[in-house]
Amino acid sequence: MERKVAKDAQKYFVTGVSMITSTGPLGHNVMAAEWTMQVSYDPLLIAVFVHQSAATFKNIKKTKEFGVNVATDEQTSLVNIAGGYSRTEIDKLKVRNHFKLLKSRYIKAPMIAGCIINAECKLVAMKRLGDHTMVVGKVISIKYNKTKKPLVYHIGKYHRIGSVIEPFRQVIKVNKMTFRWFFAQVEGKFVLKCVGALVKSGKKILISHYTRNGNSYSTIPYIVPKRGFNHMKALQTHLKSVGLRIALVHAPIIKRLVLQNKKKVQRINFVLFEGKLKSPLLNHNEWKSISSDPLLYEITT
Ligand SMILES: Cc1cc2nc3c(=O)[nH]c(=O)nc-3n(C[C@H](O)[C@H](O)[C@H](O)COP(=O)(O)O)c2cc1C
Repeated sequence: MERKVAKDAQKYFVTGVSMITSTGPLGHNVMAAEWTMQVSYDPLLIAVFVHQSAATFKNIKKTKEFGVNVATDEQTSLVNIAGGYSRTEIDKLKVRNHFKLLKSRYIKAPMIAGCIINAECKLVAMKRLGDHTMVVGKVISIKYNKTKKPLVYHIGKYHRIGSVIEPFRQVIKVNKMTFRWFFAQVEGKFVLKCVGALVKSGKKILISHYTRNGNSYSTIPYIVPKRGFNHMKALQTHLKSVGLRIALVHAPIIKRLVLQNKKKVQRINFVLFEGKLKSPLLNHNEWKSISSDPLLYEITT
């Protein structure tokens, strides 16, 4: 690995910045730590990667507790102080007109006012990794302020979060029957995930006739696979069970769609595998014109 490239490449990671509060022989302290992140939902665990030379490291090792205060885009001057000096040099939290402190509920170190998240943590693990030590804390108390915006750190500069990138989905207007057919399979899921086979013959596509609860519907051979199951294998099993011998190409196509019928909408993802028919058609399958149905048109083009 080329050292210069590796050194430069590191700047291109993107992080937030937290201010880690702790208490030790020199009193209360704060340090800036961009390498701070949640690493478990339940229990809620936060990992901070701290250099062994930091006063904060010694404090946490001794007291086995610390505060995580996630900085907002209005707190760059606090972060500069927390990250620019050590507690061995100055009492950072006492720098005039800067830190406003809040009393913690369960730990000795104070929390910092005005942050987007304040979490009180009890140390559960410490592991040296390379030139830093991973310090993992279990959150015992947490507060957040949804009106604040986090500070973003990238290429050695502070940034504000810009606009939200809306997830792109193709909206397809479908008839009531199509909408109902898929909606009946949703079972409370946010996105209905389907896997299907695309077998084309000129401008026609292979479709299967399905019947469920007295309703019938025709579309490409597809299933709603169980979560975590290999989609291609699940589809192959389905195709075999309905007597279709199709050689599938192992390169999935993904279509992220929104089915719309009047005011009703449902997100639906199709993982599609192109394939070639290897046996004659049975009577529950037929060739249908791609342009005859908006859903077929969208998933085949
Ligand atoms: C934006 C920013 C992010 C930082 N992130 C980290 C970090 O993730 N881990 C770390 O050990 N030091 C990090 N530092 C450096 C420490 O904050 C710095 O060494 C500090 O002086 C340590 O303070 P202390 O000795 O009082 O604990 C960062 C500094 C800045 C300015």
